[in-house]
Amino acid sequence: MIITIDGPAGTGKSTVAKKLAETLGFAYFDTGALYRAISWKILQEKISLTDREKLEEILYQFSFCQEKDRYFVNGEDVTAVIRSQAVTEIVSEVSAMKVVRDALKPIQIEFSKKGSVVFEGRDLGTVVFPHAEIKFFLTASPEVRAKRRLKELRRLGASSVTLEKVLEDIHERDRFDSGREIAPLKKPSDAIVIDTTHLSIEEVVNTLKKYV
Ligand code: DC
Repeated sequence: MIITIDGPAGTGKSTVAKKLAETLGFAYFDTGALYRAISWKILQEKISLTDREKLEEILYQFSFCQEKDRYFVNGEDVTAVIRSQAVTEIVSEVSAMKVVRDALKPIQIEFSKKGSVVFEGRDLGTVVFPHAEIKFFLTASPEVRAKRRLKELRRLGASSVTLEKVLEDIHERDRFDSGREIAPLKKPSDAIVIDTTHLSIEEVVNTLKKYV
């Protein structure tokens, strides 16, 4: 069985998807981490996004794997570095490129063959798994999403960042992710929509579990 959870950043998607997968005994795939991982590799190799040939080469060599809570690129543990500010700054642009999305889709399809999986991201229910058995779309108010993101950033050690800046970034990312030409962030027409603004993680997980 394939369950997809799409929605913008800060709706609690990752935590909820992980917990839902755990309680159901399913595998879990964070596709945002996949886009972050290729963005990290591009930075690491100092490749210009306009250098098509180099980009194709790196995509061809790229191998990604996830083991429990850790992520690996060509064998190297990138769990922490893919959350860095440098990666966050380019990941929207990288993930909007057709050549990148075309190369990363087979990795997601391949993972789905392992058995039952909860996939989490932006275009799982619309593009990657249009025939998924259950699709969820999580939403929350931008203010609540910004507060959650700020908490996460503080936990990661960013002490100087303000709520205003985080809110501004969220608005900008929403505009970019929803407005891009390829695989924009969009609610699948057959998805169950959950507004998480006033719900705790446990409440969201329980709601999804009931639907499953
Ligand atoms: O969920 P996140 O913030 O870690 O995602 C990082 C970026 O990757 C975000 O800008 C949107 C993009 N993304 C995407 O385009 N498609 C996905 N399936 C998942 C993430």
